Amino acid sequence: MYGKFIVVEGLDGSGVSTQSRMLSKYLASKGLKVHLTKEPTSSIIGSLSKSVLSKELDLSSKALQLLFCADRANHLEKEVEPMLAKGINVICDRYLFSTLAYGLGSNINYKWLRSINLNFRMPDLGVVIDVPVSVSLSRISEESVGLQLFDEKEKLQKVRQGYLHIAKEFHLKVVDGTKSIDEVSKQISKITSRALGIQ
Ligand SMILES: Nc1ncnc2c1ncn2[C@@H]1O[C@H](COP(=O)(O)OP(=O)(O)OP(=O)(O)O)[C@@H](O)[C@H]1O
Ligand SMILES: [Mg+2]
Repeated sequence: MYGKFIVVEGLDGSGVSTQSRMLSKYLASKGLKVHLTKEPTSSIIGSLSKSVLSKELDLSSKALQLLFCADRANHLEKEVEPMLAKGINVICDRYLFSTLAYGLGSNINYKWLRSINLNFRMPDLGVVIDVPVSVSLSRISEESVGLQLFDEKEKLQKVRQGYLHIAKEFHLKVVDGTKSIDEVSKQISKITSRALGIQ
């Protein structure tokens, strides 16, 4: 039987990586096979796109989006699909819904962005961790990673609304990310158990 493909999405600092890790541990504790992965990946293509985000490299916004897509195509074909085919559940820390939400917060042509992303595999379950922009910014600065390209306040407000809009359209589950790490984790475990039929 095929594994399930689960994606976790949300604003920077919303807890996407923390919760992806916790969900992976939860599923393993239930005896399920699980593989945790993330986008952008650490492949050469993913690394290039990360250099653009941290402003080390200056590329046109369309070129950046095509890099994200190339990274995604490679990730799906080389890693995600083979795992799913072996019956391993895959959790992906950010996927195409982050691309679309951040696209809505930028000046890029959204119709074009959608069209280049919608041929990729849809997840069996998508979770959006929702936090207000103020929470996103405070968690990012606590981490002192430095503000990246996407982190201006007004833009983030549009991105947050983008996630909520996309969640409706693609039937993603929205969880309140302002709660404690354990409470958010419990919520996501519950949603996942229900979706995967875990007792
Ligand atoms: N529910 C929470 N309450 C308080 N702090 C949290 C919560 N979730 C995550 N954090 C903290 O916020 C910071 C960012 O968390 P995390 O790296 O999981 O976010 P992210 O969404 O993956 O961010 P990024 O976009 O930078 O990858 C970390 O220091 C983490 O410990
Ligand atoms: Mg993260």
